[in-house]
Amino acid sequence: MKLILATQNLGKLREIKTLAEQTNHLHWLDLELAPKEFNPEETGSTFAKNALIKAKAAASLTDQYALADDSGICVDALGGKPGVYSSRYSEGSERNGCLKLMNELKNIMPEKRTAAYHCIMTLVSPAGELLCQFEGIWRGRIIDHMRGKGGFGYDPIFFLDSHNQTVAEISLTEKNKLSHRAQAWQKIAEYLISHYR
Ligand code: IMP
Repeated sequence: MKLILATQNLGKLREIKTLAEQTNHLHWLDLELAPKEFNPEETGSTFAKNALIKAKAAASLTDQYALADDSGICVDALGGKPGVYSSRYSEGSERNGCLKLMNELKNIMPEKRTAAYHCIMTLVSPAGELLCQFEGIWRGRIIDHMRGKGGFGYDPIFFLDSHNQTVAEISLTEKNKLSHRAQAWQKIAEYLISHYR
């Protein structure tokens, strides 16, 4: 079975490919990147709506099953922002997004800087019909300086009390055991195995 990954984000892509490779009973699944023309406008107000927009766009371009991940970081002290706008939160590099978030939180005490990564994964048929949609949530805290070189996006400032490290300091193997994306993927994998194996 061929499955098109509806993303252009290289960080996500690396994680989802690794997750898929490490899932038992899924060797028959052939993951392919969406074509270059894939560039839908993410006009939805929720992760779920945007994931569906992306999955449908990839299915319509390729006539194949498509899987989309819409994700972001929701900071409690900012009323859940940047949320669905996480990738568009700042101009320029991902580093700028981290700097902007640290700046917005500069007067907030460490214990009140709680946040959560959210991920919705959506699977659609080649005709664009919604097959399933699953969520993963990973809680952490935003620190006031960047630490670590791994991961992508907000990982250098997303701190895990359980590890005493940021997500950019833990290995991809460790991130893929715990992350919002890994949680959603696990449920997608179960769905794929039970319906298509
Ligand atoms: P999307 O492509 O619209 O779903 O945007 C996702 C954005 O959320 C990314 O560009 C990152 O800014 C942020 N994000 C989502 N997942 C992660 C993660 O695992 N680590 C760091 N940032 C993430």
